[in-house]
Amino acid sequence: MAVLKNHIIEIKNLSKAYATGTAESNVISDINLNIREGEFHILLGPSGCGKSTLLNIIAGLLRKTEGKISMNGKSIRTPDKDRGVVFQNADTAIYPWLTVYENVEYGLKINRVPKEERKKIVEHYIDMVGLSEHKDKFPGELSGGMKQRTQIARVLANDPQVLIMDEPFGALDAQTRRTMQQELIKIWQKTGKTIIFVTHDIQEALLLGTDISIMSKSPDAKIYQTYKVDFAYPRDETTEEFNAFYRTLNAHFIERDADESYDDLKIAI
Ligand SMILES: Nc1ncnc2c1ncn2[C@@H]1O[C@H](COP(=O)(O)OP(=O)(O)OP(=O)(O)O)[C@@H](O)[C@H]1O
Ligand SMILES: [Mg+2]
Repeated sequence: MAVLKNHIIEIKNLSKAYATGTAESNVISDINLNIREGEFHILLGPSGCGKSTLLNIIAGLLRKTEGKISMNGKSIRTPDKDRGVVFQNADTAIYPWLTVYENVEYGLKINRVPKEERKKIVEHYIDMVGLSEHKDKFPGELSGGMKQRTQIARVLANDPQVLIMDEPFGALDAQTRRTMQQELIKIWQKTGKTIIFVTHDIQEALLLGTDISIMSKSPDAKIYQTYKVDFAYPRDETTEEFNAFYRTLNAHFIERDADESYDDLKIAI
């Protein structure tokens, strides 16, 4: 029997209302979620449902309104080096005036890691994301995929326990996205890190996740189901099992859309 690992992240009855919202309206409401060490946990939900809001609270970049959230039993209140965040847009995360190498080195320098050790770590992660030949280039000389790899290498170099990724491949073309997905699986398998990954793409969720939590629409978005995905990696999206799972997940969104058009109809009548 497989031994279940400990919960690394625990979220209980978590709600968030932005100051600009109405007094009663929460973007996310009563979120309950436990993430175990080593999981590749996907948050899947439609645009605007509050995925980034939830992720930013987990990252410690945003304060919750109500509820509890902890990592390793310690309440999350601020960002921490044990939680590395990869943003959707690499341009907001990497420095244009530093080369790939210097960008990846940045956090290590801040943490005063000695030069020789720094070099080893930086080269290791630049190699892992396949950028060795481009390490002396500046972000302005890189493609979107290369910038995203730089951001991922930079986060990995800081050796966080948890990788928090907000639609990191959303802006990439289909081919690059597929390559990056395969590389991320390899990195996850190699490092054994816990990954929390946001997407609104069902296929991406099924290609990557060990666990998929589905979010309902905002306001008052909740996590209303978490699925375990047992398919072996690399996953094959052409199999009948994969497609059956796709249809199961898709049904959640179709049902909701149908409910909504029904509401519209009632209003129209
Ligand atoms: N700083 C803010 N102030 C007020 N409202 C906000 C703020 N940030 C987000 N919202 C609102 O909260 C809701 C959820 O936004 P969020 O960015 O978390 O959604 P999302 O699921 O990540 O969407 P997407 O898939 O488009 O990235 C939206 O209605 C948005 O307008
Ligand atoms: Mg978002």
